[in-house]
Amino acid sequence: MIILGIETSCDETAAALLEQTKKGIQILSNIVTSSASLQAKFGGIIPEQAAREQIKSIMPVIAEALAQAGIEPNQLDAIAVTFGPGLIGSLLVGVETAKTLAQIWHKPIIPVNHLLGHFYANWINPEQTPTFPCVGLLVSGGHTDLVLFDSHGKYKYLGGTRDDAAGECFDKCARLLGLPYPGGPEISKLALKGKDIYKLPRPMTDSKDLDFSFSGLKTAVANRVKGSEFNPVDLAASIEAAIVDVLVSKTLTAATGYGINQIIVAGGVAANEKLSEEIKKAFAGKVFIPPPQLCTDNAAMIASAAFFIKPIKDLFQLQANPNLALAY
Ligand code: KG4
Ligand code: ZN
Repeated sequence: MIILGIETSCDETAAALLEQTKKGIQILSNIVTSSASLQAKFGGIIPEQAAREQIKSIMPVIAEALAQAGIEPNQLDAIAVTFGPGLIGSLLVGVETAKTLAQIWHKPIIPVNHLLGHFYANWINPEQTPTFPCVGLLVSGGHTDLVLFDSHGKYKYLGGTRDDAAGECFDKCARLLGLPYPGGPEISKLALKGKDIYKLPRPMTDSKDLDFSFSGLKTAVANRVKGSEFNPVDLAASIEAAIVDVLVSKTLTAATGYGINQIIVAGGVAANEKLSEEIKKAFAGKVFIPPPQLCTDNAAMIASAAFFIKPIKDLFQLQANPNLALAY
């Protein structure tokens, strides 16, 4: 079975071809283009500009994905597309393109929730894939969520951020340090040479629930930057250590609380090496984290999720939903 995945929820335009065989799910091609460097000039994403870039890129990216895989449209079994959450202008480009191609090529269409899609990057691995039950930690630019998966499509929301997401905290702290967007990789690079000496807060690690809060950490960094002299390299290491500590602590609380011996991590922040190291060190069970290029937004994860989701009956029912939640 071969699926074309399309992802346009934010500033990445992505298309991928994945094949499911007895050996598992494999990537035939995986194309991602991004307007991030254009957005970086403004310190963040301008939705209108992101949408305009999506329109320019979508067809060339899909054509490239098909060409690299050596697949003709008539060999496709389905088209999978992200229908939310995200920026409405960006989402519309992917959804309407997918609907049009599905009509022309007479293919079924599979709508994929972007947040759920992130977790499915962990299923793109012919050697070993997660089994159920497992605890999922989603850490992206807009989300920090803990979920308990019972099976494909059956999951329970355990907790999430009450304010900023982990990636947003990385991005906002990076901006305070004068680093470009996206800030996560920049802080992480700087942190390699630094030490965690600034004693930044680890918000809500003592609370009984599975919620997160990162805005206080950002405020603490803002105060530190405004205050006396500081060493940016050590401050970057301190920011990274504080965010990673909170994520590891809450995820372990969730896993032990529910008696689960498998954790799956997903989303852009899952590309963070320190998070990967610390969570593997702290957890006695199995930890799945996708390779970095499958953590940040891509269409391979969307196609991967689609192998476990039924096609929509009437494609005209499919609408982009910018506010789609993880549990829907
Ligand atoms: O999942 P993603 O690509 O897009 C969303 O769906 O939001 O996540 C983007 C987020 C950004 O906040 C970015 O700074 C963060 O992921 N990120 C990282 C790293 N790579 C990307 N954060 C920390 N360390 C990284 N290596
Ligand atoms: Zn994402």
